[in-house]
Amino acid sequence: MQLGIDDLAFATAGRYLDLADLAPVHGVEPAKYTVGLGQDRMSVCAPDEDVVTLAAAAALPLVEALADDERAAIRTVLLATESGIDQSKSAGVYVHALLGLSPAARVVELKQACYSGTSALQMALALVARNPEQKVLVICSDVARYDIGSAGEPTQGCGAVAMLVTANPRLVAIEPVSGLHTSDVMDFWRPNYRTTAVVDGRLSLRAYTDALTGAWEDFRAQGGAEFGDIDAFVYHQPFTKMAVKAHAHLTRLAGAPRDAAVMDAQIADTLRYNREIGNSYTASMYIGLVSLLDHATEDLGGSRIGFFSYGSGAVGELFTGVVQPGYRAHLRTAAHRRLLDERDRVSHAEYLRIVAPVNPVDGGEHDVERLTRGPFRLAAITGHQRLYEPTT
Ligand code: CAA
Repeated sequence: MQLGIDDLAFATAGRYLDLADLAPVHGVEPAKYTVGLGQDRMSVCAPDEDVVTLAAAAALPLVEALADDERAAIRTVLLATESGIDQSKSAGVYVHALLGLSPAARVVELKQACYSGTSALQMALALVARNPEQKVLVICSDVARYDIGSAGEPTQGCGAVAMLVTANPRLVAIEPVSGLHTSDVMDFWRPNYRTTAVVDGRLSLRAYTDALTGAWEDFRAQGGAEFGDIDAFVYHQPFTKMAVKAHAHLTRLAGAPRDAAVMDAQIADTLRYNREIGNSYTASMYIGLVSLLDHATEDLGGSRIGFFSYGSGAVGELFTGVVQPGYRAHLRTAAHRRLLDERDRVSHAEYLRIVAPVNPVDGGEHDVERLTRGPFRLAAITGHQRLYEPTT
């Protein structure tokens, strides 16, 4: 029996900052961002958008496509995030309510920086292996925020991916072997009292590469596929140039020929959406997968994809999946393109105005400005509770 991703969609905020408008503020050439980091734009959350509204927006089309009995088969919702809105209650419970899912379900939030979406996927596969009749909704949702004026600022972004994990999946069957690597490293973290991450940029690049090395070596030791048997590679993308560097590193490590055109073809389609969205932490690698499936001009049915998931702190996992024949009939390419094309470009001044989150620590009463174009919004914070509502 094959297990894997049966349906897949992403959501992002309704506004973006063009990095050409950020470069002069930082006193650098736009090429530092567009070429050096491989980023053109970053999605910017409005105050009434957060990980809950993004997650629910990503999952809505998947849930709407299901018949009632199929919806009831979703007995588990796993929400992965590192920009959670509560220290106790899972963001997934709000999402479960907004989507109108059956109360006969377990819902939980998972955390390990940008990696936890992959742990959610692996747990979902294990649950479906135990009971192939059930479906598991895995959602990765994050808002990437660094201090204004810091080196990390141009690598901000936000987005969510929803994946329906089932037996006999229509999109990608995940293979059983994983290569794993964990080491205690302080490359990127966010203490409870901060709304922005603390990052040691140079160390984070090394920690990512070290985790890739460790995960690949373990993957091979566990009997995972040879490099030459993998057709395309999807990496975690804090900025898309990182994936380019990671792929060069892995190619070297595997002793494969370093042919620039071949290497480019193995990753180019995975980078297209993230160039426009920016970092979406847990969602970023899976938006890379959507990008590959949506943009590949050749039919990828039967192709093996390698995935490298990385979460600072640090955990890495390398695994593979096989694209299923006929997958193209189940893609949401037009909706994804529309979502990106319909975003509004904001000025740098407007970005500064909206980027500050509604203060989550003051315990005060807030009505939240109505700005989102998504299907759900944060309407108010009152009595220490976040109140969400559909926008229509
Ligand atoms: N034209 C073209 N390229 C230019 C240029 C120009 N005018 N000016 C600079 N560049 C190039 C540089 O040469 C460099 O490229 P190479 O690394 O290939 O040499 C690139 O632009 C970036 O320049 P710097 O290294 O000088 O950039 P920086 O030090 O200001 O910031 C950063 C880079 C450290 C990655 C910073 O953006 C950052 O801290 N980001 C957040 C942390 C991060 O994303 N880490 C990634 C690994 S951790 C992870 O993956 C988890 C996660 O999601 C956070």
